[in-house]
Formats: sequence, structure tokens, C-alpha cells
Amino acid sequence: MERAVFARTLSRVPGPVTVVTTVDPTGRRSGFTATSFSSVSLRPPLVLVCLDKGASTCAAFTGAQRFLVNVLAHDQGGVAHRFAASGVDRFAAGDMERCELGLPGLPGASVRVACSLYSVVGAGDHDILIGRVMKTYVSDRTPLVYYDRSFVRPALDPIPGDRPTNALHLTGW
Ligand SMILES: Cc1cc2nc3c(=O)[nH]c(=O)nc-3n(C[C@H](O)[C@H](O)[C@H](O)COP(=O)(O)O)c2cc1C
Repeated sequence: MERAVFARTLSRVPGPVTVVTTVDPTGRRSGFTATSFSSVSLRPPLVLVCLDKGASTCAAFTGAQRFLVNVLAHDQGGVAHRFAASGVDRFAAGDMERCELGLPGLPGASVRVACSLYSVVGAGDHDILIGRVMKTYVSDRTPLVYYDRSFVRPALDPIPGDRPTNALHLTGW
């Protein structure tokens, strides 16, 4: 599989835009933008996010006890750009507060999912951070979506009669 074809194909799969954060025992905060967030298991409640093994934040996350997934709202594209930028202080804007489990979080996030680190699985050039969900926050804010290499706001236009019944692997969601 050619790398460009793989990238183009996956660019057409919409994904959530998240900023994943952690803090070490000395109070040093780390965070990165990620679209690779997904649910994994209902019992126990597990989620995952994939982190590039070469990222400057990789050691901080694979060695962390906890992390927080901030699912961004439609007006937080600037935060996503900032937490993807290299060589800058991503926390300098001061928009992060102590949230669930004392982790750095965005008050305006659409959803926050606070996890204890359950497992780290190496997969190619990424590490899969699997988190056990400990606490969540849900708002009614419209989420930001990454699609076709752009940030988009979902239309939230349900198709009548098209609500899945038993199609989801996590029944009850
Ligand atoms: C829209 C978007 C989605 C991203 N998704 C991921 C991801 O899922 N996993 C990941 O490791 N990096 C992802 N990145 C890249 C990281 O945010 C970050 O730029 C990268 O880790 C390089 O950071 P470094 O300077 O700390 O090494 C994404 C970047 C953008 C803009």
C-alpha cells in the first residue's frame, strides 16, 4: 500500500478532534492534538488514542498514570492547531484548567474523558494508549470534526428513521 493512497483514504474517514493531556508528579503538563480517539470496550470501559512514537510527548504519556481526552467543540480549531505545533509552549494561552482527576482540561470542550492508563500497545510507528475511563464530562456543545484534512462543524441533521438499533458494538450507546 502506497503511503499517499493510505493517507488519502483515511483522510476521507471523519474523526473527532481531541487534545489529550497529562501532568507528571512535578506538575509538568503535556498535551497533543489527536484524531485517533476511539472507544474499545464497555466492560471494563476502555478507550484508545494512538500516539506517534517519535512525538516529543510520547515518553510523558507512556509513563503517565492518567490522561484526559478533551473532545473539542466546533469553535476550538485554534486549540487543535496549537496542540499540534512543535517547539512552542502549548499551554501558554492559559485556557486549560484543572479538571477531572486533576488533569489539564478545557472548560469549553464538548466532552472530556478522564482515564487511568490501562495498557500501552506498540503498533507500527505509534503506541496505542488504552485508557480505563474513570470520569467523564458531557456538554451539549457541537463537536469539531476532522474530515478531508479540514476542521468541519457537523450538520447535525439526523436522517429520519435512520437511527441504528443493534449496529453498534457497544450496545446501549
Ligand atoms: C488534526 C490533527 C490530528 C492529529 N492526530 C494525531 C494522532 O492521532 N496521534 C498523534 O500521535 N499525532 C497526531 N497529530 C500530530 C500531533 O498533534 C503533533 O503535531 C505531533 O505529535 C508532533 O508533536 P511534537 O512536536 O510534540 O513531536 C495530529 C495533528 C493534527 C493537526
